[in-house]
Amino acid sequence: MRRSCPLIGMLLFALAVHAQEHNFNTTYIKPADTLVEKKIEAWQDLKFGLFMHWGTYSQWGVVESWSICPEDEGWTQRRGPYSASYYDYVKAYQNLQTTFNPVNFNPDKWAAAAKEAGMKYVIFTTKHHDGFCMFDTKQTDYKITSPKTPFSSNPKANVTKEIFEAFRKDGFMTGAYFSKPDWHSPDYWWPYFPPKDRNVNYDPAQYPDRWNAFKDYTYNQIQELMTGYGKVDVLWLDGGWVRPLSTVDKTVEWQRGIQYNQDIDMAHIAKMARSYQPGLMVVDRTVSGEFENYLTPEQTVPKEPLPYPWESCITMGNSWSYVPNDHYKSANTIIHLLLRIVSRGGNLLLNIGPSPLGDYSDTAYSRLKKIGAWMKVHGEAVYATKPLAPYEDGPVLYLQSKDKKTVYVYVLSDDKADEVVLPANISLQGIALNKKSRIVLLDEPKEKIKFKTEGGATTLSIPSSLQDKTVGKYAVAFKITL
Ligand code: GLC
Repeated sequence: MRRSCPLIGMLLFALAVHAQEHNFNTTYIKPADTLVEKKIEAWQDLKFGLFMHWGTYSQWGVVESWSICPEDEGWTQRRGPYSASYYDYVKAYQNLQTTFNPVNFNPDKWAAAAKEAGMKYVIFTTKHHDGFCMFDTKQTDYKITSPKTPFSSNPKANVTKEIFEAFRKDGFMTGAYFSKPDWHSPDYWWPYFPPKDRNVNYDPAQYPDRWNAFKDYTYNQIQELMTGYGKVDVLWLDGGWVRPLSTVDKTVEWQRGIQYNQDIDMAHIAKMARSYQPGLMVVDRTVSGEFENYLTPEQTVPKEPLPYPWESCITMGNSWSYVPNDHYKSANTIIHLLLRIVSRGGNLLLNIGPSPLGDYSDTAYSRLKKIGAWMKVHGEAVYATKPLAPYEDGPVLYLQSKDKKTVYVYVLSDDKADEVVLPANISLQGIALNKKSRIVLLDEPKEKIKFKTEGGATTLSIPSSLQDKTVGKYAVAFKITL
């Protein structure tokens, strides 16, 4: 019998813990349904999507939902009015429903900006943990289309529908973010008991009728989303603490607080959802198995390619929700993130939080524009590409076309400067070229790039006309036809 090295074991354990804190781990079950598999393949080619967190919380410019969660974490702190007493705060928070009036809502404008940036799919928060529905549900009055909400009289009040329609018209795949936990539902946080943390506040095994009512509520809402909103490609289910107790992994810190079995019968939900939306990708986030069709590392880029479909969700600002004067990542940072993710075989889902009046900040639009200008030149070296070892080596990133006939080698700008300045020579690892190979720089396709291949390594000679000047911004790509 081989004895395992304790050091390697510890290292693997540390990696696994790190991975799981960030919402990805190593168990993946390939979907048996070929339509789902096909959809995943098509989605993997899109590379770049838009995430939007939008709800009544945007009016206070605070974190989405979490300020009503009675846990003492950095991101759950109560800010804004009524922050002293928990119950006063929750009342005022829920009352935000009566003032939500995003009169500048214009999803065509959002879709046009996202399309120009090169984004190809959209995931929208139809309901976050606070339970406020951004769609016209019949299951509760805590929704944007309730007469209590001023925006309900607007012809575009059913914002989920409007968003999906606008983006679909521009060729986007659409996805419904939906929180399984619902902190407004009396069948999740039963008002008889005070809520203690993010979890259900009673034991479902002891009060099965209440839990069944919650299951029905969830099923019915998802059914509404799958039937009244046109073609939906992704059902993105957040709130991984709503899961069968048997799937809890106590090595993951946030799962340690899960005491009760919170099984909502995903098989039943997925079957229903796919009966209306054939091929639907179901992302039961962090619950590894049949209903997590792709994995969703959060605010992080895996170091290596992952052996399953995945998408990193990352905020453009610091927050998922709208926060006035949020600090936005530069176009340079965003493009580098996108390329690092794509070079490891993933997609980037970039989040923007719309304002209480229903628009993005000027900074967000300006970032999208800059990304778009770059994408126009480099799109062919982003979409439908595949990772190529060694993936990343200093400022150099490697990608290849699906048919493996073309290699794309990127040189990234310095993190602090937008401009890329090329040296006289660039050596590439593991790429052997022959006499017929051709190399051009996508930014300056007329210039010929000479190269030398020796012992499996290739060196590019950059013509003096392209040296020591800005050849492009953020990242430039050499297209190598093998
Ligand atoms: C984090 C936040 C949650 C947000 C999610 C998006 O888990 O806590 O509010 O919806 O990220 O991935």
